[in-house]
Amino acid sequence: MKKFQISATLEVYDSVNGLPENIQRLMTMAIDIRKKAYAPYSRFQVGAALLLSNDVIVTGNNQENAAYPSGLCAERVAIYHAGAQYPKEEVSLMAITATSLDNPVTTPVPPCGACRQAIAEYEVKQAKSIEIYFMGEYGVVYKANSISDLLPLMFDGSQL
Ligand code: THU
Repeated sequence: MKKFQISATLEVYDSVNGLPENIQRLMTMAIDIRKKAYAPYSRFQVGAALLLSNDVIVTGNNQENAAYPSGLCAERVAIYHAGAQYPKEEVSLMAITATSLDNPVTTPVPPCGACRQAIAEYEVKQAKSIEIYFMGEYGVVYKANSISDLLPLMFDGSQL
């Protein structure tokens, strides 16, 4: 029996203010769209903003449904919109923020497993890493250089 180790290095910023200016702008857009999330059931609001290679910024927030599984996370709302509207552009950066209407979320909220898989699809499609910044409502921001840091051993089309 052999073993191998999987590891990833993420960057940690103390707050939005410590981010490069262009990322601060992107995160501010994620915060703005987070506030418009339709999340009456979980009361957990998420916002995502994507910077594309044509400099367009696409945003999305979570959209819930009384039939719970019919809802969709903010990250997929945003990235599917980008894929639909700008199929030839690359996604360069992603900013994600989340909070609860019931209590402040101060630790970084990473994309869920299904969203990681969706983001991975676009990273493979464009053959270029997507930088992902994620935070709670305020406080520390984490940065992953690629979705592969958040989804090691990912399944992709090459395995089909
Ligand atoms: N949610 C997101 O929008 N993104 C994630 O990555 C995690 C979860 C949403 C889904 C649901 O509307 C609410 O947060 C609670 O799970």
